[in-house]
Amino acid sequence: GEEAGVIIVDDDAARHRIDRRIYGQFAEHLGRCIQEGVWVGTDSPIPNKNGIRSDVVAALRRIRVPVVRWPGGCFADDYHWMKGIGPERQPMVNTHWGGVIEPNEFGTHEYFELLDQLDAEAYINGNVGSGTVAEMQDWVEYMTLDSVSPMAELRKRHGREQPWKLEFFGVGNESWGCGGNMMPLEYANQYRRFQTYVRTYGEHPIAKIACGANADDYEWTEVLMARAAGHMDGLSLHYYTIPTGEWDAKGSATGFDDDTWYATIGRARKMEELLTRHGAIMDRYDPQRRVGLVVDEWGTWYDVEPGTEPGFLHQQSTMRDAVVAAITLNAFHRHASRVRMANVAQMVNVLQAMILTDGPDLVTTPTYHVFDLYQDHQDAVHVEAIGEPGERPGGLGTHGDYTISRTGRGYTVSMANAGLEHEVSAVFAFPSAITDIPSARILAAADADSHNTFERPHEVAPADFVDYRVDGVTLSVTLPPRSVATVRVAQ
Ligand code: AHR
Repeated sequence: GEEAGVIIVDDDAARHRIDRRIYGQFAEHLGRCIQEGVWVGTDSPIPNKNGIRSDVVAALRRIRVPVVRWPGGCFADDYHWMKGIGPERQPMVNTHWGGVIEPNEFGTHEYFELLDQLDAEAYINGNVGSGTVAEMQDWVEYMTLDSVSPMAELRKRHGREQPWKLEFFGVGNESWGCGGNMMPLEYANQYRRFQTYVRTYGEHPIAKIACGANADDYEWTEVLMARAAGHMDGLSLHYYTIPTGEWDAKGSATGFDDDTWYATIGRARKMEELLTRHGAIMDRYDPQRRVGLVVDEWGTWYDVEPGTEPGFLHQQSTMRDAVVAAITLNAFHRHASRVRMANVAQMVNVLQAMILTDGPDLVTTPTYHVFDLYQDHQDAVHVEAIGEPGERPGGLGTHGDYTISRTGRGYTVSMANAGLEHEVSAVFAFPSAITDIPSARILAAADADSHNTFERPHEVAPADFVDYRVDGVTLSVTLPPRSVATVRVAQ
């Protein structure tokens, strides 16, 4: 393994709260995410509450999902919300995702029911591409107005007396692509107009999120900030990790070679650069960092599993995805003063999913376990550390990456080893003596592409981590290849 570096936990450095919403989810009407993955309907033999799968809700509650973005994705700019309310739902063609018939059984009421069961906040993405200002205005009124109005009356007729709490509203999705193929200035102008009618009724303000850049499209961020920053609370960013970088041959989710592993990790690390550079542009227009950077789509994107519908984006998830998740979450922590929310794509059965289902069966993925291992970072205070030799990620070796946060008198240290061959070691030096290690857990795997199947659901699962030593103020750790670990430190 590599020489252990000393990482000095500098608790006097600038600190920022790690918004729990960085652990947000994205659930689109795409393939088997909503349909089957979340929604089975009240007549289903699969155990459900009001049509929503109870096993999926139970698994998601265990990782404390703070917010769910819905209904898309590209689907959002095709979605006409009125088709998804009331007793007579109007089916539609899901043009982006396999051309299947979307029954619209899961609509606004069902979405808020899901949030209720998860105890999560709402992030609705509105339709700019094929929608109208009036349609968007009506939707917000339908959801949030506690008074007498046509939309509030309609909501009540459909069984919901009280308005819902709508925390976040996205004004269009990928408006530079599937959401309308707009140029930056054109969208900035559309954004200004549409968001005017996303009105806050009552006391609770709705945070408005503008469609942001595709990966490293810095011009988009520049134009949006210059023309519309004053009208937004958040600006989004989408970035997917594709092993080959080629959309027409992305590579397989399993059965990849070592070079492909490292290429994938390298592409995941690009998130750090994107946050730095988009953040720098935002800083010029918004030095107080009032506008949040909202990474509302991120994750790995591979070729679909053989034999599955290409438009359903169904892929396996391995130890490689777990390491990508850890590296990405660490980057969000480092940029916590600007990144206020992130939504992994996607929650169930699609792309880098937390959960895979097959009929009544459910399996959690290695990525799910990373979200579990990272739970204690939600709303904790990010703590800077000084790595020797070299700066992060050098403190834990070339392939290491780590993050530290503080809650009360304790610290949570999460680490990843993205190397395939060697252990990595580090010594963390804390400001005062360590009194206890309340928990230490590790996710590791026999192979780079180890994954969970319905036959072997616990192939990749967290275990107790024992390869650490405490001595006064120091914690020494050694991580095996391809692993993610979290150690809680009491002071
Ligand atoms: O997450 C899948 C798709 O990726 C989303 O619908 C779209 O916004 C993005 O291109």
